[in-house]
Amino acid sequence: MYRGSFLSANLLLLLTSVKAASILFQGGIIIAFDKASEELRVIRNGSLLVQNDRIVQVSDAGSMKAASSISNQTQVIDVTGKIITPGFIDTHRHGWQTAFKTIASNTSLVEYFGRYGEFVAGDFWTADDVYNSQLAGLYDSVNGGVTTTLDHAHHTWSNATAEAGLKASIDSGARVFWSYAFHNVTNYTVEDQLPNFRDIASRGDYKNSPTTIGVAYDFFGPAPNVNEVNAVIGLAKEFNVSVITTHSLQGPWGITNSPEDFESLGILNMSTPIVFSHASFLTAQGASLLRSTTQHISTTPESEMHYGHTHPKSFYIQDQSAIGIDTHFTYSSDILTQARIWLQQTRYELYSDVLERWRVPPNNPMSVYQAFLMATRKGGLALRRDDLGVIAEGAKADLVVWDGDSPSLLGWVDPVAAVILHASVGDIEAVLVDGKWVKRDGKIAVQGYEEVKRKFLETAKRIQEIWRNLPLPDPGQTFNGGFPIEKAEQVDVLRGPGDGYGNVFV
Ligand SMILES: *[C@@H]1O[C@H](CO)[C@@H](O)[C@H](O)[C@H]1NC(C)=O
Ligand SMILES: *[C@@H]1O[C@H](CO)[C@@H](O)[C@H](O)[C@H]1NC(C)=O
Ligand SMILES: *[C@@H]1O[C@H](CO)[C@@H](O)[C@H](O)[C@H]1NC(C)=O
Ligand SMILES: *[C@@H]1O[C@H](CO)[C@@H](O)[C@H](O)[C@H]1NC(C)=O
Ligand SMILES: *[C@@H]1O[C@H](CO)[C@@H](O)[C@H](O)[C@H]1NC(C)=O
Ligand SMILES: *[C@@H]1O[C@H](CO)[C@@H](O)[C@H](O)[C@H]1NC(C)=O
Ligand SMILES: *[C@@H]1O[C@H](CO)[C@@H](O)[C@H](O)[C@H]1NC(C)=O
Ligand SMILES: *[C@@H]1O[C@H](CO)[C@@H](O)[C@H](O)[C@H]1NC(C)=O
Ligand SMILES: [Zn+2]
Repeated sequence: MYRGSFLSANLLLLLTSVKAASILFQGGIIIAFDKASEELRVIRNGSLLVQNDRIVQVSDAGSMKAASSISNQTQVIDVTGKIITPGFIDTHRHGWQTAFKTIASNTSLVEYFGRYGEFVAGDFWTADDVYNSQLAGLYDSVNGGVTTTLDHAHHTWSNATAEAGLKASIDSGARVFWSYAFHNVTNYTVEDQLPNFRDIASRGDYKNSPTTIGVAYDFFGPAPNVNEVNAVIGLAKEFNVSVITTHSLQGPWGITNSPEDFESLGILNMSTPIVFSHASFLTAQGASLLRSTTQHISTTPESEMHYGHTHPKSFYIQDQSAIGIDTHFTYSSDILTQARIWLQQTRYELYSDVLERWRVPPNNPMSVYQAFLMATRKGGLALRRDDLGVIAEGAKADLVVWDGDSPSLLGWVDPVAAVILHASVGDIEAVLVDGKWVKRDGKIAVQGYEEVKRKFLETAKRIQEIWRNLPLPDPGQTFNGGFPIEKAEQVDVLRGPGDGYGNVFV
């Protein structure tokens, strides 16, 4: 953290010599990060200077005066009374699925695989649908303050649909770790996808945008095709991808993709970050492997509750965890909500642990400070990006400006508690990604957003009509050929006859 005294010759030189987009936020309450102590630092009445895509100075009141007088090109923004945080990081999402919004409010994972997943949807989605849905979904993300998304992009059903999702990611201006999913889908196999990936990576259309490419693959275990794994990982290494990601669902789900699977394939301890989504039923051994290789899981609290992946041990591995969202068409699409759910779920579980033994806990197991880190800095660490998820000198200028006077925030003194427990997406006034405004005055501020909405609604209407007429899949006797299927008890919320389950309005 640089104070006034540091306003050095170097910085002055930078400010005067570079004719760059420069924004100075003045008078705000900044939730900054001190890299030396690894701690959050709240600066009241602070200043934050953005130059191009980076944060170049964060300081206490008054100390930025020299800087602001240097360049008459600098946009000066008065943020008195407002809270500035880093943008949130979503480490697991499928952006293409936006057009399914609200049609699966009570779906189960068993049904999802047979109805909404990558092995079914591709038969109906065009490249335009993927583009429109991915783009609208990314604006949903940035609207909610999510500036970085690890997109497990399993809309790779043809060269055209693959490239459409990538193009939407680039066009959005958001920071997307767009991770090409390799899978055998209708008429398009891994063998077809390998050259398509090579083509995309060689062309590098994303190179002048915040988007980078990664690899997604869900067949590392329990019974991997080693040749195929080697082909996929070989490409990841050859093109030095930004991330490798996988769905890890152990226990009765049986889709392991565990740290142990990676370890036995000899690919866990890589320089590339690996993100294990959900990591339900992670073992103690798996947790040790994550720690020794500094790889991470992506806990998706609402998804894991909605679908029942569950997360019985994930509290114990938060040192190697970040937060994600997953299928945002079925529930909240912002990381703030996920962080809040995760905070309270952790508290609930760890309290229960004591109460079950008929003892009474006097302390609180998790803090808002920790929840804030999970939503920001930990995402950066999962992606091995020290410059993401923090407000610090040299970090990317991915920022969120909160209305500190909103009815729900009024009266706050601790800005971390204010954001984590009291704010909502509606309190987000502005969002910058890579130093560029994507939300301003409470509205998406990109050119052509009305047209994006119009095209997206055409796609949503078409897709939802198709799904309305698709018969529900038969759950079968076993899940994925493994453990038996058994109905969960459904609750009743009204007295009287029947179970009161009601209808969905789709
Ligand atoms: C904030 O700092 C500025 C100097 O940069 C000062 O003029 C102003 O009075 C301060 N405001 C508050 C509320 O302390
Ligand atoms: C900005 O400052 C430069 C040099 O100090 C001056 O030449 C230029 O006219 C100024 N531009 C504006 C818009 O004031
Ligand atoms: C897959 O290929 C077959 C044979 O060419 C074709 O009949 C079918 O329509 C294709 N399916 C899809 C979803 O493209
Ligand atoms: C994809 O299909 C090929 C050819 O049948 C097979 O060798 C490979 O194991 C399959 N991969 C997956 C992940 O199903
Ligand atoms: C998909 O892209 C690959 C790599 O460029 C190419 O070899 C293949 O012919 C393309 N497939 C189609 C159907 O265009
Ligand atoms: C691979 O990419 C990372 C950033 O994602 C970079 O730090 C590293 O230098 C790159 N390695 C090579 C060999 O290009
Ligand atoms: C992981 O690889 C690094 C670099 O090759 C090495 O220094 C480290 O000891 C390895 N860690 C484990 C747990 O194998
Ligand atoms: C969701 O609700 C609808 C309407 O009540 C019902 O038909 C359907 O079976 C439910 N889906 C699941 C997966 O429980
Ligand atoms: Zn997922």
